[in-house]
Amino acid sequence: MKFQTKTSKEITSDTVISFIYEDKENKSPLFEYLNELSNNEIKKQLKLGIIKGKYLETFKIAINENLKVLLMGLGKSKELTRKKFSIAVSSAARSAKTISLNNSIAIELIDYSGEKDSFDKKESAIITIPAARIGLYNFDKYLSNKKPSIETLEIIEDELTQDIEKGAEIGAYISYAMNYAKDLVNEQAQVATPEYIANKAVEIAKENNLEIKVFNKKEIEEMNMNAFLAVGQGSINEPKFIHLTYKPNTTPRKKVALVGKGITFDAGGMNIKPATSMLTMKSDMTGAASVLGIIQAIAKLNSDIELHVVSALCENMTSGKAYKQGDVLKAMNGKTIEVDNTDAEGRITLADALSYCDRLNADEVIDIATLTGAVIVSLGHNITGVMGNNQEQIDKFLNISKKYCENTWQMPILDELKDNLKSEIADMKNTGGRNAGTSTAAWFLSNFTKSKSWMHLDIAGTAYLEKSNKETPFGPTGVMIRSLINYLIN
Ligand code: BES
Ligand code: MN
Ligand code: ZN
Repeated sequence: MKFQTKTSKEITSDTVISFIYEDKENKSPLFEYLNELSNNEIKKQLKLGIIKGKYLETFKIAINENLKVLLMGLGKSKELTRKKFSIAVSSAARSAKTISLNNSIAIELIDYSGEKDSFDKKESAIITIPAARIGLYNFDKYLSNKKPSIETLEIIEDELTQDIEKGAEIGAYISYAMNYAKDLVNEQAQVATPEYIANKAVEIAKENNLEIKVFNKKEIEEMNMNAFLAVGQGSINEPKFIHLTYKPNTTPRKKVALVGKGITFDAGGMNIKPATSMLTMKSDMTGAASVLGIIQAIAKLNSDIELHVVSALCENMTSGKAYKQGDVLKAMNGKTIEVDNTDAEGRITLADALSYCDRLNADEVIDIATLTGAVIVSLGHNITGVMGNNQEQIDKFLNISKKYCENTWQMPILDELKDNLKSEIADMKNTGGRNAGTSTAAWFLSNFTKSKSWMHLDIAGTAYLEKSNKETPFGPTGVMIRSLINYLIN
């Protein structure tokens, strides 16, 4: 998709999105221009009460053969929040997609100042572009009848500044990262194998001039990643371990390691999942797909941080060779794990991926993982669980995620959780009953990093939607990519 910043008069899209409030007139140059083109028809319709500007209320009007306007209501002018705005943009884009005939949509850039929230035009661009693209997303690779797709998004601003241009650039790369990750998650598991994803990583490295190392099974063995290897041993698809590095031209402001859970299919292993739970498990590599999206954005934005992206890629299957309950696995850092449940495989692969990161001496380590069903019980499908060992890092992240329209909530990691995972024959078991499952999993992970600034994002509930919500259509969501990129560049 192409992004262009344009003035009102330069619009070439046949469909234009403009915003209105319930209690305040829209006086933007674009709105005035469209009204003028409509011979005052838009204002007349407003006056007649055909549209009131209530939150998420839409009104479509054709001005001439080549121009249609979609007005999106933002509600009371003091009550808007960034999140509410993002939802409005996404749903406006979804609606505009269905009426555009020249595969091109224009959207007004607005700033906002209210009681609960505010944003300037630069921030608006960072929010608007990814939000619009969330609404426009399609995955029609396997459909005979392709869905209508939008190829150009025009961002309308009559007083363009360098700041706004920068915001638009950030927004565009964030949206690109999200779409990249979503496409990879949408790909069926028999195609998106560890090898396929490792090849994608190589492609990314080539295109962006990154260092890359892909470790094959033998090299993984040589690194003593016996925990990770056990999870993958039941599959005919060989595991791969990937490590990509982006380095800025100058001394990096900080060094971050990002780890993505990369289970290309989670059948549960010998503790096989019931059919309904297994249905969406091609998405168990969302963490890996996300970090591959993110590093491209960081590179394209010429960020001043050094970023390492790491993923242990394998498939969790049942077979005569599969790992079993009661097996004792020795992770790369020497700690031993008694396999209590083969379906708690993500934490086992992450144990080795996190241990690997110890050698990088990063200032911060962050993992993103579709880790526990328990986080869905606790927080549902719209909130990501955040845990870690450094409150300052967590606070900064919670704050940034709110600013960039993603819901997060911190869950505790307590030392007492140790008792849940107590094993008689190994240093710890990999599961500890139903209670506090998300925190227990995080406590498990904390044993495999030496970082004083480690943060863990449990996206099991938010990575993949079986039913659309107001902001995001069905399927992969690209969750936390907006937050992580903004976190890394700020
Ligand atoms: N990949 C799943 C977690 C998951 C569940 C992701 C639902 C997305 C949607 C993970 O590997 C898993 O199976 N976790 C188990 C752990 C349990 C056996 C302790 C779970 O949460 O049921
Ligand atoms: Mn599992
Ligand atoms: Zn899993």
